[in-house]
Amino acid sequence: MIFEIFLTILLVSLIIKATKRPWNFPPGPRGLPLVGYLPFFSSWDPQYPHEAMKKMSEVYGPVVGLFMGPSQTVISVCSHEAVKEALLNDDLNGRPYSAVALARAFGEKLGIMFVTGQFWQEQRRFTMRHLRDLGFGKTSIEDQMMGELGDLIKDIENKSQSDSERIVNFKGIFQVSVINILWAMIAGERFQRTDPKFQQLLTANELIFRSGNVVRGSIPIPAFVLKHFRFVRDFIGLKTELIEPIQKFIQETIEDHQHRNLTEEDADNFIDVYLKEMNKQKAENPSTNFTNKQLISTITDLFSAGAESTSGSIGFAIIHLIRDQQVQKKMQMELDQVCGEFFPTLNHRSSLPYTEAVLMEAQRCSSIAPLTVPHYAVKDTTIQGYTIPKDSVVMLNLDAVFKNPKYWNEPEVFRPERHLNEDGTKVIKNDHFYPFGLGKRLCLGESLARNTYFLFTAALIKKFRFEPVPNGPLPSLAPTNGFTLGYQGFKAVVTLRS
Ligand code: HEM
Repeated sequence: MIFEIFLTILLVSLIIKATKRPWNFPPGPRGLPLVGYLPFFSSWDPQYPHEAMKKMSEVYGPVVGLFMGPSQTVISVCSHEAVKEALLNDDLNGRPYSAVALARAFGEKLGIMFVTGQFWQEQRRFTMRHLRDLGFGKTSIEDQMMGELGDLIKDIENKSQSDSERIVNFKGIFQVSVINILWAMIAGERFQRTDPKFQQLLTANELIFRSGNVVRGSIPIPAFVLKHFRFVRDFIGLKTELIEPIQKFIQETIEDHQHRNLTEEDADNFIDVYLKEMNKQKAENPSTNFTNKQLISTITDLFSAGAESTSGSIGFAIIHLIRDQQVQKKMQMELDQVCGEFFPTLNHRSSLPYTEAVLMEAQRCSSIAPLTVPHYAVKDTTIQGYTIPKDSVVMLNLDAVFKNPKYWNEPEVFRPERHLNEDGTKVIKNDHFYPFGLGKRLCLGESLARNTYFLFTAALIKKFRFEPVPNGPLPSLAPTNGFTLGYQGFKAVVTLRS
């Protein structure tokens, strides 16, 4: 009898908790005890969480509040005004300490992407300062980029020539080049395109990104549940077995650097610079934040953020240009006029407004980080007047901003001209376009990503003509799902332009 009374009280209190919403909480659908709205979320869109959020916002408004699980508040934000306000609000600059985030960092709060507070500020500042010194966003690494580009072009040329119909398969082709540029700064070395170990790491990284789900992956779940229930691990996209080889590889690279006994002047890559700082700090303060594990976790963040996003952007841009031959020809004309027989360089960039507009439009249409990296309320705060309780996960929907007909005429249409002034001579900055985020959590790799995206896409389009495979389907723009959006593997007929 006592047990039954206890059970009834427990059930009633759970129902009350599940249906009771905090004061001034944003409107949104209600869920069930224990699971909240989790089982129903994907009924709005079974495939893409950002689309589900857009549909929900049509019913409940631009700021929606939900419970995912027994007590986790999740806020979905879909209008430019609300997204911008949230990105610029320092009280929302936290990150959820989800199982996925912890698994990437030995179960601790390490790295840059998923840490907060002073630790984050210190590590982000150090990393940005030194990556900048090592060439991030500077023309000094343009030679390195051009070298990688040369290899990529050779690879595409060989593939095209070895096929009687000049058909090239573009699956995973850009990742090696993109990561090699970053790896030169991180470790001072590069990989061969065909190195099987490196290929394995890139595949593991891609699988981590593709098997995840940004909403489910952000919900804190108790460790014992994760340990004992594989289906829960699969549900949230926790792939420890794929993360471990990446960490091991980074650890071995660091050990290799430690054994080299470098002098001060030799520190020309991030690992050496970090190790130098670590040794200095350890001598002064044994509990310093500069540790071996933190270095591994920072590199894991850079490696994973850098590999998928930039190569994904290049892939989507090429797909758009295969599908729209007129735009491809117009871009080629501009590149020929401005660069003559040479490859486009960063110095040409300001004289290539149409090319720039094409790149912006491809990023707008295929927003590869549609929900940014999830934010987290470190204090009670507000968005558009609604109360956002401390510890809420906040999903900021960039895709909803980039596709909103209020800001963009016919947002589903790929139209580079929308980023240009009337006579097409100048790029117009649009306040509703910020693919790298805004505020203090702004993408750490923005300048490197912008330069790589520009140099690679522009050079490939100048060098080759990309056409659809005859009698085959057009390359698909439907993204592959995951923590970011990726392009589907595609094939194209590739011929050298004379
Ligand atoms: C076209 C390519 C890229 C796009 C569109 C992109 C976009 C983004 C976005 C939207 C965020 C989240 C901002 C927020 O949470 O408010 C982010 C964060 C981040 N990105 Fe990128 N990114 C790109 C390339 C890169 C590259 C190449 C790197 C590394 C070299 C990188 C490293 C990071 C890191 C470390 C963060 C987390 C920053 C923090 O939490 O403080 N990204 N990126």
